[in-house]
Order: sequence, then structure tokens, then C-alpha cells
Amino acid sequence: MASLNTQSVASDQTLFVEQLPSHLRPEPVVGPVHGEAHRQRRQALARAVAARSNGRPAIVLAFSGKEILRNRDNPYAFRFNSDFFYLTGFPEPDAWLVMRIDAHGEMTDRLYCLPRDPEREIWDGVRTGPEQAAERYLFDESLSLAEIDNDLPELLIDQPTLVAPWAESQAIESRLSGWLQQCRSKARAGKKAPSELLSLGDLVARQRLFKDQAEMMTMRQAAAISAKAHCLAMQTTRPGLAEYNIEAVLLQAFRGQGAESVAYGSIVAGGPHSCILHHRAGHRVMREGEMLLIDAGCELHGYASDITRSFPVSGRFSPEQKAVYEVVLAAQEAARAATVAGAAFTAPHEAAVRVLCEGLIHLRLIASTTVEQAIETEAYKTYYMHRTGHWLGMDVHDVGDYCEPLAPGMVLTLEPGLYLRPSPSLPEAFWNIGIRIEDDALVTEQGCELITRGVPVDPQAIEDLMAGRA
Ligand code: GLY
Ligand code: MN
Ligand code: MN
Repeated sequence: MASLNTQSVASDQTLFVEQLPSHLRPEPVVGPVHGEAHRQRRQALARAVAARSNGRPAIVLAFSGKEILRNRDNPYAFRFNSDFFYLTGFPEPDAWLVMRIDAHGEMTDRLYCLPRDPEREIWDGVRTGPEQAAERYLFDESLSLAEIDNDLPELLIDQPTLVAPWAESQAIESRLSGWLQQCRSKARAGKKAPSELLSLGDLVARQRLFKDQAEMMTMRQAAAISAKAHCLAMQTTRPGLAEYNIEAVLLQAFRGQGAESVAYGSIVAGGPHSCILHHRAGHRVMREGEMLLIDAGCELHGYASDITRSFPVSGRFSPEQKAVYEVVLAAQEAARAATVAGAAFTAPHEAAVRVLCEGLIHLRLIASTTVEQAIETEAYKTYYMHRTGHWLGMDVHDVGDYCEPLAPGMVLTLEPGLYLRPSPSLPEAFWNIGIRIEDDALVTEQGCELITRGVPVDPQAIEDLMAGRA
């Protein structure tokens, strides 16, 4: 029986790790967790479904996803559906989770997965197969995917509620409708098809908003890997390098520390590009005197990290760069202080906006005379046009209701910024200064913990790191 898989993969990291300065050497990465944590999530979902359907029996379906071709016969790296993986920990494509929930919220579950196939496995790697899946991933039973079209219409009979990934893709939708129609065709024999159709995504979103211990552990690891990658990127940056050189450092650091992927396309934005919010790393060569904004994070075992740092290409802030940087840093500190259990999700944003307005007025970058006026007229939006954060989890912009008050176990980003594009209304020394500072905050009983602070934010600490003094 498998529960926590805590096998270390550090021994596979020697090549990359040996090159790192000692203070940047990563902790050993713990392998993905699967088993008991996922079973508990399925049980919690079963209770939520029973409560929602007033105790009427229900079937829950979740699908792992299909491989998608990138070109001709060449697939993209497979990335499982987040809801499916959250509930199962099963990483293979073409798998369906089926849960049966009784009137008391008790559930039995089974996994349909691809059967073993010696011929395909030579090319694509070993499959778990239905013989092993139940024991390894703690399902009541596991069956071959080939059985599902026979079984599903029968399983749906006389089940009033069906929870499924509705409206997620045409392929899934047509699968679900096919099973439902077959079930409905048995009406003349006195059998009933589900009449209440509920969205799996809506139900799981609330659960995913509150991270359990296994998730917090993985998110801390992802955060630590990304923080080290940012440190290395800072140490490498100098005039004459291109944005793609720095992206390569980030990718090497993510994969070299055991992360499977990026959580989103890395933003490496030099000079004028620093004022483009989601500029993807390109070919532009960085110059003395410019800012570099890096917004990049790895995905580890299905969990995202999301960090932004902004720093001078030359390693020394100009007075204007530093002045703007300190305003953004103070805004982030205000957002952090407002990130407390019970507060509205909007509280950190509102706190950050006030400080940004104060700074913009102080630097004479907007004409408003008071913070209230700057907020009321939205004068600050010329330079700060996005919100201060989002939920973070398996998806970088994670699921979850933004009307929920903050509570322990939630993870959100705190990412204020200022983007000063060239404009006749700005002194030229401020042109092309784009600054965002983003950390990942875990809400605790006491306030919040910034889990990404393995990379410095203090301007002096950044200059020291870039100069090799740290
Ligand atoms: N990395 C995308 C974002 O910060 O929202
Ligand atoms: Mn973000
Ligand atoms: Mn980001």
C-alpha cells in the first residue's frame, strides 16, 4: 500500500548542484506525494457533494486529459488536468476517476486507466496499468479504460446527481453526453438517469482554495526552487546579455533542482520591455542603465510558484530607479501587512494602491494632491493597471472565489508594480522603469508567510548579490 512517497531525487541533481555556490545549493526535493492525502481529498469532496445534493446519491467523474499533438506525431509534454490530479495524484493521460457517493456521503471509487502495453511502453515509458493503480494510488478498484463505455451508462442508472467536468472541452462533453444518453434510453425499462448535473470544477475549487499539509510542503519546495533560480538570474545578468540568456539560466535552475516545468512562460523583460506586463523573454540585448524585470516560477509536482523581481542590469540602481523601486517595495509591505485571516481578498490591493499613490505624489509623477484624489480619479492607473494578486496553487491563476475572506491555508500572490513608459509628462530619467515585486503569501493564523523570500527584495541586498558580495 502506498501512502507518502518521500523518496529523495537529490542524487540525480549532482551535475547542476555542484556548480552552485554553497549558499544557493537546494534542499533535496521530495518526490510527489500520492496516496492518503488524495484519498482524503476525495472523501472531503464526497461530503461536499452529499451536502450539496441534500443527501441524494451521486456519481462524480473527473478526467486526466489527453496528450495533445504539438506537430505531426509529436506531443506536448503531458500536463494532467488540475482537478483530476488534485483528487488522484495519478499522472497519466486518458484516465477517469469515478466516485459513487451514497446518501451519507460515504464513497467508493475506481480509476479507469490505460492498460499495460509492452509495445507502446518501449516508446512512451511504463504505464501503471489497472493491475497496480488501485493499490499504488489507494482506489477501491482500478479497471482498464476499455471497460468504461460499457460501465458508465450502467453506473449512472438511478443516481440522481452527476458531478462532472461540464463545459471544459468538446471531447469531454461529447463523452459525457454519450453516457447520459445511453442511460436515458433505458427510461422505458423504468430506469432513471441523473437529473441534477453539477460542475466538478465549482465543487473542487472551494476545496483547492485551502491547501492541506501535502500541498503546503510542495508549494514551499516550488517556491524555494524558484527563489534560487531568481538569485542565479540576478548573479548572471549584465549588459550585453540577451533576455533569452537569462531565461536559459532560469530553466536550467528549475529543471536542475527537480521541477518538472515552468508554471507559465517566463517573463524576462529588459529596458522598455519591463513596462510590458507579460513580455515573454525574447532576443533583445540588455544595456547598461536599464531595468530587468523577471517574472518566472517553476511548477513542481503540479504546483506553481510565481515570483517577480526587478533590478538594474548593471547591478546598481540609478537614483530614479531606486526611488520608484522603494515605492513598490513599500506598497508590497503594506499589502503583506493587510494579508491577515478575516480580511477581504481586496484588502492587500487597496493597501498597496494607497502606498503607490503616496509615492507617485511624492515623486511628482501624478498631478493629484492627495491619496484620496488619486484613488478617486484613478490617476495611478496610468502606472499601475493591474490588481495586486491572485490565488495560487496548481494553476498559476488558481481557482477559487475572490469573494471568500482570507483564511489560514490560502495562498495568494502579492505583486504591486509601477510601469513608467516614455511620456512627455515624465522626466526622461524615469522612462522605461518597469518594476514589479511579487511574492507568494501563505495565510496563517498570525498573518501571512512569504514563502518566496529566498530571493532578496531589499535593493542593497540585490546590489550585494549581483556584485558577488552576498
Ligand atoms: N506570472 C503571471 C502573474 O504574475 O500573474
Ligand atoms: Mn502572479
Ligand atoms: Mn508573476
